[in-house]
Amino acid sequence: MRRAANLPAAAGNARKAACLALLPFFISRLGACGGRLLTPVSQGTPPPRVEWNFMQKRILPARAVSGEIGLPGDKSISHRYAMIAALADGPSRIRNYSTGADCHSTLGCVRALGIQVEGSGTEFTIHGRGLNGLRAPAADLDAGNSGSTIRMLSGILAAQPFRTRIFGDESLSRRPMRRIMTPLEQMGARLSARDGQYPPIEIEGGRLKPIDYVLPVASAQVKTCVLFAGMFAEGVTSVTEPERSRDHTEIALREFGAEVVTAGRRISIAGQPKLEARDLVVPSDLSSAAFFIAAALLVPGSKLTIRGVGLNPTRSALLDFLTGMGANIRIPKLESANGELVGEIVVEHSALKGGVIEGGLTAALIDEIPVMAVLGAATEEGLIVKNAGELRLKETDRIKTVVENFRRMGVAAEETPDGLIVPGRQTFRAASFDSFGDHRIAMAFAVGALRAGGESVIEGAESASISFPEFWNTLSGITR
Ligand code: S3P
Repeated sequence: MRRAANLPAAAGNARKAACLALLPFFISRLGACGGRLLTPVSQGTPPPRVEWNFMQKRILPARAVSGEIGLPGDKSISHRYAMIAALADGPSRIRNYSTGADCHSTLGCVRALGIQVEGSGTEFTIHGRGLNGLRAPAADLDAGNSGSTIRMLSGILAAQPFRTRIFGDESLSRRPMRRIMTPLEQMGARLSARDGQYPPIEIEGGRLKPIDYVLPVASAQVKTCVLFAGMFAEGVTSVTEPERSRDHTEIALREFGAEVVTAGRRISIAGQPKLEARDLVVPSDLSSAAFFIAAALLVPGSKLTIRGVGLNPTRSALLDFLTGMGANIRIPKLESANGELVGEIVVEHSALKGGVIEGGLTAALIDEIPVMAVLGAATEEGLIVKNAGELRLKETDRIKTVVENFRRMGVAAEETPDGLIVPGRQTFRAASFDSFGDHRIAMAFAVGALRAGGESVIEGAESASISFPEFWNTLSGITR
């Protein structure tokens, strides 16, 4: 296995783990990982042996980024629709379901809980069995690389009359779960985890009581976990968040018929809702669009149209932030679908002033910060990111992995305990970048490579499949 200079062992392992987590996915698309399958997969055989030869992508500087694209379904919304549909009465049809491996981890868990899931590609029918219809899984549940799967599903598992164990890959096994364990324990569930806070988590479900919980961190995953658990409690469960986080859960629960009330930062759900099966279309993922928006802004002569993108106001702060820095971004079409705003984005190359991401904006842009940092280095005044300690708890420590890749491309950046300082007006050197097994790091530096002085390489490019398997094809389709 290739090991990059200065690469912490854990990061090398994280890449291998990310690839392992993606194994079922790659087996269905043989060769996509660059791994050669040595043993055919069949029921009862040991896991296939794979020769590790991680995917590298070579990126040339672009003269322009142009065209019109559609993108896969929103990852956050796909997870939520799949989980809620499993608890609704009857079949829900979900179109434009995310193609990312994370959302397939959720489908795998839902199936393992006795729910029939039909379909393939981007369209699935989930045959919900009602609020109390899940069955004890025959084996431990595998959340893969997906923090959303383990944290949100735990809220549902905590209310089941059976015990479950849920685990993830090496990267997920290093991510903190105490944040969901505390409220679920207060509701009456019994949970245990490695060292009291890391996956695997064992959940002894049972009858839950409602709580009024104040979230110590702004996290939509934790908020969702508590609201999901609240569905099973008798009475009203409330969550108050320190900053407004994405509200897809509230919107989706209402779509399925639950009573959810938002009053400022406090969200309340009435227990024991009767969830009705629905036909739903997932909007395209704004966090995936962010890479192409940044690419078009960065490369002179670019003009790009992105169709059908989710523009929920708790996510679209990204566009406000960019236009505030001088970005030429227009939304010529805007409509509402299943309670979510969906629109067309037109973006043109623009000289950007630079800016500061802090406070509530940090929470709203948390997944876009790596690519915003790359963009920031090419702005007039640079980018400062504050209050972003949560970035260190993502698939990788994204403050460190961004700074390390900046170092490789000759871009100066200063790491702070909870953020970054990226001076502006920097030139990008062609480099060998490392994804460190993190999808958003792979894609962020692929965007940076478009402005570099020569050919760059992204090592561990397969990790993009965690959220966006089509990323590399889409990128090559719009770069000239
Ligand atoms: C997500 C919430 C965010 C985000 C993640 C998806 C969600 O995580 O980073 O990619 O779908 O709720 P946190 O809740 O940990 O902030």
